[in-house]
Amino acid sequence: MSDIERTEFDTGPAPSVQAQGLPGGDLSPTPQPGEGDAELSLRPRSLHEFIGQPKVRSQLELVLGGAKARGVSPDHVLLAGPPGLGKTTMAMIIAQELGSSVRMTSGPALERAGDLAAMLSNLIEGDVLFIDEIHRMARPAEEMLYMAMEDFRIDVIVGKGPGATSIPIELPQFTLVGATTRAGMLTGPLRDRFGFTAQMEFYDTPDLTRVVTRAAGILGVSVTDDAAVEIASRSRGTPRIANRLLRRVRDYAEVEGDGIITVEVARSALEIFDVDERGLDRLDRAVLDALVRGHNGGPVGVNTLAVAVGEEPSTVEEVCEPYLVRAGMVSRTPRGRTATPAAWQHLGLEQPADR
Ligand SMILES: Nc1ncnc2c1ncn2[C@@H]1O[C@H](COP(=O)(O)OP(=O)(O)O)[C@@H](O)[C@H]1O
Ligand SMILES: [Mg+2]
Repeated sequence: MSDIERTEFDTGPAPSVQAQGLPGGDLSPTPQPGEGDAELSLRPRSLHEFIGQPKVRSQLELVLGGAKARGVSPDHVLLAGPPGLGKTTMAMIIAQELGSSVRMTSGPALERAGDLAAMLSNLIEGDVLFIDEIHRMARPAEEMLYMAMEDFRIDVIVGKGPGATSIPIELPQFTLVGATTRAGMLTGPLRDRFGFTAQMEFYDTPDLTRVVTRAAGILGVSVTDDAAVEIASRSRGTPRIANRLLRRVRDYAEVEGDGIITVEVARSALEIFDVDERGLDRLDRAVLDALVRGHNGGPVGVNTLAVAVGEEPSTVEEVCEPYLVRAGMVSRTPRGRTATPAAWQHLGLEQPADR
């Protein structure tokens, strides 16, 4: 176990801001500070090792296989989907499968066209260029990227004003792999230049169970089959969360037990970390409670809900609601949020007949 992880655990399971489901909590789909090393060791390294996403995997097998057979660089690939589903992992795998090296950057790092020009002019034939959060790239860089993707050349503008000159630079054949959590925010011209878009979906419990079992093997902990299912079913369809919950449960098993993760150990640990059977945390449940008990199931506006749980409306809207909606417990209607029968049921309440 790395020092980072140990320190993180030592800060204790006390109900901190984290346990309340704010961004960065155990159920956040985005990486937490210091989580990078732990994630790296758990990354599958080949398409074969990659669990789930059967459609994306078979599509990529064809795209990559075809290109390899013809001895050319494959089409540019866009990986779209929510955080934590394996986009960065897949980008690495693409390079690995092609036997290429990968250069990594991200949209926010490409503020000026020059930043991108520097990346591009360092590429060598066959490289994979990975741009994470590609929807956040600055416009001038994006425009330069169009030409690079299409014609494998760029024009670099040197100087300013009337004396500015444009210097053409030929680029080697490369494959751009872009990742985005917001495919809808990509401009049409950029989207059109990807030969292939892989849409990553949330994982079902059987696939996530395999993610947990595999990670346990790498971490060298024993986890029973039913414990793996228990962890998987609370992980919101997201491998990043499954791996994180596994590490939490492992810590608990080492401190409180003999290190073996049984279903009882998993349940006790997840209770301490405030993760319930459906993968809801304290704040999610507070929102549900305000909606169901406080407002008889709604409809109620998000601002009212936010006041009821003492959070910013944006936190309720961006942190809690997406999963509550996906879990089929809350619907967003023009008149406000309403609780579904599943919400009443989750809180152990009888839904009134008039609802
Ligand atoms: N299909 C998978 N099988 C096993 N582990 C996975 C899979 N997809 C993602 N992971 C794990 O989840 C974590 C997050 O994956 P990552 O590729 O960083 O997600 P994204 O870039 O979409 O946010 C990584 O530690 C990775 O090991
Ligand atoms: Mg990523």
